[in-house]
Amino acid sequence: MDNTVEKIMAGNEAYRNIVERTSVRRFTHEPVAPELQTAILYAAMSAPSGVNRQPWELIVVDDPELLRRLADGLPYAKMAAEAPMAVVVCGNRERFLDGDDATLWVQDLGAASENLLLGAHALGLGGVWTALYPHEDRMATVADVLNLPENLVPFNLIPVGHPASHHAPMDKWHPDRIHRNAFTR
Ligand SMILES: Cc1cc2nc3c(=O)[nH]c(=O)nc-3n(C[C@H](O)[C@H](O)[C@H](O)COP(=O)(O)O)c2cc1C
Repeated sequence: MDNTVEKIMAGNEAYRNIVERTSVRRFTHEPVAPELQTAILYAAMSAPSGVNRQPWELIVVDDPELLRRLADGLPYAKMAAEAPMAVVVCGNRERFLDGDDATLWVQDLGAASENLLLGAHALGLGGVWTALYPHEDRMATVADVLNLPENLVPFNLIPVGHPASHHAPMDKWHPDRIHRNAFTR
């Protein structure tokens, strides 16, 4: 790791939280306390969004039967069956923009999802982004299990809980991918 980054991490918790977040796929059976649930949902809704449309709807799933049915139907979200809860981040078509901005909601929901993951990590919880959109089959599974109305687009499913295991963050630092004033090889 870069020396400067290491120094900043040592003295700045908010920065350290960003750098040290990892995907968590194994959870203890401990439920997530209601105030922690509120805190991570609040973090999600603090995200920036195009024209401040906030086009998200957050479906909290903590019914073990529903979590099991979601895990059964989703190829890459099997860990949801073991999680005490999951948040299904959905887009609300009624708040999507038009024209060239019509797909900005995808970026908005990405920002909200990352905020949720960072909020969870900051509170000692863990979670993992599992993709739904743009896979029509996965979106249909979730819409069916949760009986979602037509105007909601399931974007991702984020199992959340107390981590049962920890792993070190991956080193994703690639200085060769930074280009100043022009793209250079
Ligand atoms: C758009 C997106 C889709 C992802 N889909 C899945 C998924 O379906 N299942 C899963 O276990 N992890 C999924 N992940 C998590 C990535 O595998 C993980 O973020 C990546 O390997 C880097 O690891 P880290 O989050 O621990 O830094 C997804 C992440 C993103 C951003």
